[in-house]
Amino acid sequence: MSDYQVLEMGGLDEWRGHYGGFTPEKSRDGRRVVDHELTMQYIGMTANAFEPGEEAGYWHVHERIEEVYVFLAGRGQMALDDDIVDVGPGTVVRVGQGVFRTWRALPDSPEQLRWLCLRAGGQELPEVPRRQPPRPRAPVPVELNPQDATLAAYERGARQYAERTTTAPAPEVAALLARVAAGAHVLELGSGPGRDAAAVESAGLTVDRTDGAAAFVDAQRAAGHRARVLDVRADDFGGPYDAVFANAVLLHVPRADLAGVLATARRACRAGGVLVASFKKGEGEAWTQAKLDDPRHFTYWDEAGLTAALTAAGWIPEQVAESTLPESAERWITVVARNEASASL
Ligand SMILES: C[S@@+](CC[C@H](N)C(=O)[O-])C[C@H]1O[C@@H](n2cnc3c(N)ncnc32)[C@H](O)[C@@H]1O
Repeated sequence: MSDYQVLEMGGLDEWRGHYGGFTPEKSRDGRRVVDHELTMQYIGMTANAFEPGEEAGYWHVHERIEEVYVFLAGRGQMALDDDIVDVGPGTVVRVGQGVFRTWRALPDSPEQLRWLCLRAGGQELPEVPRRQPPRPRAPVPVELNPQDATLAAYERGARQYAERTTTAPAPEVAALLARVAAGAHVLELGSGPGRDAAAVESAGLTVDRTDGAAAFVDAQRAAGHRARVLDVRADDFGGPYDAVFANAVLLHVPRADLAGVLATARRACRAGGVLVASFKKGEGEAWTQAKLDDPRHFTYWDEAGLTAALTAAGWIPEQVAESTLPESAERWITVVARNEASASL
């Protein structure tokens, strides 16, 4: 039989009815020492409930034990050495070794203060989760790297993406047309359904439509356009082009790889050529399942980070500025940069 146990402690409103402690002298109402009831190996846990205004009444410290207090209901305070921390539902407080601690429920707490205290014995936990095989059908795909998973999401959802995307060209098309004359040859990365390419072509430019997802390339070919599969992470970009256009595409590139991809784009661009691209503005990275059924991974950028990546790739930034439209749920940055070096560099 698998090694697990189940204990029903009752709902939060029943916890005050518990009575317990580590020794009979230290036992009190509203405390349950769960590790006296389950055969815990490495962690201990108490479940606790204080009436409004009730205090622990003592300070204590551990030399080896690390504790995590998880507050679930009510309002209270923890004193940690010289600090006081307000706690309430959702507050998690880790207390390291050597910190003196005590706590109380505030007199005007709207309900009993209830929390779990988890403690472990000052030794590193074994890295069990990392040794497990990937979980099947996890909400975030763990079996692929984020960029492969994102590309796979576009492969499966190309038609859905086209149906759910406005047919109005992106504002970045105007930024491109303001800088590149009719007759120019443009490389578009991540064309998707080809909405922007159509707008650029109708202004008299030639567009090489490309995408990392074969499903988009196939759909464009079926509509009579020339298109090729180009994965920005690995493939040759060709060229030299007068401009490289990438609307909402390079936001799928990992932060550490962006300068390298931008350098490849610059080598595909003639001297004096231009890059126009857009990115989501923000911090960190995130998965989202908005728009497609499968999750896609995004890297968020700020102006300083994009400027640094462009410069590292040899582009001269002309514009790196927020371009969020009033109706947009997301914030955006538009990038315009010039290649002043020879395309052969
Ligand atoms: C948010 S969509 C934007 C599509 C189009 N530019 C638009 O504005 O409608 C991102 C596009 O990037 C493509 N893409 C994602 N990862 C890519 C990669 N590694 N190489 C090339 N294209 C990629 C996707 O297939 C998709 O067409």
